[in-house]
Amino acid sequence: MKQMKILGTGKYFPEKIMTNDDIAKLVDTSDEWIFERTGVRERRISDLAKEEFPSGMAEHAARMAIKNAGLQPNDIDLILFSVTIPDMLFPNTASRLQERLGITNQCGCLDINAACSGWVYGLTIANSMIQNGTSKNILLVGCEMTSGFNNWNDRSTCILFGDGCGAVVIGATPAGENSRFYNGVMSSDASKKDALTLPFGGAAAPITHDVLDRGDQYCKMDGQIVFKNAVKTMAMHSETVLKNAEMTLDDIDWFIPHQANLRIIEATAQRLNFPMNKVIVNVEKYANTSSASIPAAMDEAIADGRIKRGQNILVAAFGAGLTSAAALIKY
Ligand code: UT7
Repeated sequence: MKQMKILGTGKYFPEKIMTNDDIAKLVDTSDEWIFERTGVRERRISDLAKEEFPSGMAEHAARMAIKNAGLQPNDIDLILFSVTIPDMLFPNTASRLQERLGITNQCGCLDINAACSGWVYGLTIANSMIQNGTSKNILLVGCEMTSGFNNWNDRSTCILFGDGCGAVVIGATPAGENSRFYNGVMSSDASKKDALTLPFGGAAAPITHDVLDRGDQYCKMDGQIVFKNAVKTMAMHSETVLKNAEMTLDDIDWFIPHQANLRIIEATAQRLNFPMNKVIVNVEKYANTSSASIPAAMDEAIADGRIKRGQNILVAAFGAGLTSAAALIKY
């Protein structure tokens, strides 16, 4: 059976930095409170004039990933684009990225919405497409403009999120190399769907004047339900993929959890009994960039030499749904 290899990675963050002190000018909060509860110091915020919406950010990250893979845009034969708030309802953001990259081969373009877990869902889907021979070079993007759903009057949510993008190119592992996907797991617990939701703006509940008057066009969250569920499912799914691969945590070189919140990351590592010095963390600089957080953190750790070829990498995420996913790869 064909194995998959991450051929190249890339990332992009908007230039504009918003610090905790900047947020404290908008709502009743402080750098101290935000850092203590989340581990976040600052985040990046998109500028629409610079086209830093999902397809625009993704163009930068994807060009970097394609170049690092030693390929040309027209070598891509499938674009999987994880995004929670797309450029527009249709056409999908993957198609808009195809055009931006100058891809003329009419490759398949699919958006994935599994909220913050979307990129990890996409990794499992991409592996299947490589293994069954449907695709040769898949561009898998996680890109989010969370500032599009952030309520800058709600201190319990607006402190958490940031904008950014991570992208990888996935192909078949060449003969003689050992890169592979061991296994992945995906779940969703819809009984907790109301814990993190943006209920207005879709077909079931369109934006009306009343919705705007109430300021209901933004995300709503019960932070404590999300927190508890995040730690539980990320740890549980991590243990499942390890068990399925007949491996233990000692076999893992790096754990890249969804960069939602340092307390969630530390609690998950503690539950797994996994040392924090093998956990990739960059939430302090970028906050929670939803499904962009894992591929962007992966690119950062590859670029600075922490992640090396042949190492085993565990990824785990959770998000609205409440979705959760984990996967185990050899890079
Ligand atoms: O990708 C998924 C994204 N979601 C998450 O990762 C969220 C997971 N949840 C969390 O990280 C935490 O629940 C939060 C960081 C959101 C909140 O921390 P918490 O320890 O659960 O705080 P809390 O909601 O229980 O609030 C404690 C207090 C409250 O005041 P009272 O009622 O005790 O007087 C809040 O009003 O903190 C207050 N508070 C704030 N104070 C200053 C809530 N937000 C803020 C704030 N600054 N930004």
